[in-house]
This record gives sequence, C-alpha cells and structure tokens, in this order.
Amino acid sequence: MKIGIFDSGLGGLVFLKKLIEQNKYAHFVFYGDYKHNPLGNKNDMQLEKYFDSAMSFFMKEKCDKVIIACNTMASVILKKNLDVITPIPFVLNQILTNEKKKFLILATKKTIKNKIYHNKNTIEIACPLFVKKLEKNPRTDMTKIIDKYLKKVKGYDGIVLGCTHYSLLIDDLKKYINKDVLIIDSSLELANHIDLDNKELKIDIYINKENKNIKENIDWLFNKYPYEIHKLR
Ligand code: DGL
Repeated sequence: MKIGIFDSGLGGLVFLKKLIEQNKYAHFVFYGDYKHNPLGNKNDMQLEKYFDSAMSFFMKEKCDKVIIACNTMASVILKKNLDVITPIPFVLNQILTNEKKKFLILATKKTIKNKIYHNKNTIEIACPLFVKKLEKNPRTDMTKIIDKYLKKVKGYDGIVLGCTHYSLLIDDLKKYINKDVLIIDSSLELANHIDLDNKELKIDIYINKENKNIKENIDWLFNKYPYEIHKLR
C-alpha cells in the first residue's frame, strides 16, 4: 500500500510519526512543500497551483491513497469533493461531539479566513508566528508566542489545534493554560482515523527545498525509523 501525504513541512511529518507510533505502516511518500511554507499566508490561486503539482507527483508515484494533512490546503480544496483524506471531518466531528464547549480555534490565516472550524461557540485566532518559529527549531520554548496570542482571550474550555504544526506546541500550551481544557489536535485526530494493516514500513520524504534545519528536524523526528530524503525537481 502506497500512501501519499501532503503538508508544507514539519507538521505533516509530525502527523506521519503519530501514524507510525500507532503501528500503522505502509510505504509512505511524503511531499513536503517547504518551498512555499508557510502556506497559511498564500491565496487560493497559489494554493491550488501547489496542490495540482503535489497531486501530479502522487499520481506519478502511483499512490493508492492521498492524505492532505495540511488544514490550510484542505480548507481550500474542500469544495472540490476530491478523493483525498483530510483532517477536517474528524476535527469537525470532535467539535460537534463537544458542542457545549466553547472552543478556541488556533490555525493559519487562511484556515481561519475559510471558517472551516467556525460555529457560534468558537473564538478564532490566526497565529502566523507559530509555523515560522517551529520550522526553525521545534524544540524551542514557545511560551512567549503562546502568550502573545492567548493573553487577552478568556472564557474557552476547549482548544482546537487547527494546523498540523501546532501539535508541537502541546506541552508548552498545557503548561501555559494550567487548567483542564480539552485539546483537539488535528494531527492526532487525523492519525486516529487512518486504518492501515501493512507489516512493512517504508518512508520516502520528498522536499522541494533543502537546508540544514529541514534535515535536522527530519532526523530529530525519524531517527528511530528507516527513512530516505529525496530532492523534488
Ligand atoms: N501545517 C499546515 C496546516 O495544517 C500549514 C502551515 C503553513 O505552512 O502555514 O495548516
């Protein structure tokens, strides 16, 4: 089984790692659109063009299934009704299941603008600084930026991490909030809903931009697993 996974970078790799940690194996073909990261600041036309390039790649690779892990991209292609898996229905289902809760939605500018996780009980904040900082160093303390976005927000009892990258914020976020709040992590929700029963694991990571940070971060996440990095051309 060959599974194509799309994201703008580290967030999609965090999702892939969650799959593997749940013993869900396949031949994974990851397409990291690092060249256009952050996707959250791009417009629909740009995002659709990047999506088409990724889909052509997955077709060439003969992937059996494609997962668009990126919430931002998923929010743009949502209306096209395509045969791809995205986190949106699973996250929405969690929001609906907990309809009494007041959710704070944290996501990219584009995802917030597209209102995919919006309802009468939600407070929404676009957080463009998180992805930039996490791509530079996912192990850095994010408390200052969390404080910048959250300090004036009150009255929520749930948080939606509506961007795959934000999974990396969970520890700092929990410490910062310091009270019982339900956290819905789009990377984890997506991983929880993928069924795979392959015995073998193969990870091919394709990237369209190379630098030391990118490679170091990939190694930090996957050093326990067999993986290969390829440059997309
Ligand atoms: N990680 C992606 C998402 O889930 C987008 C991050 C970005 O490139 O802005 O929305």
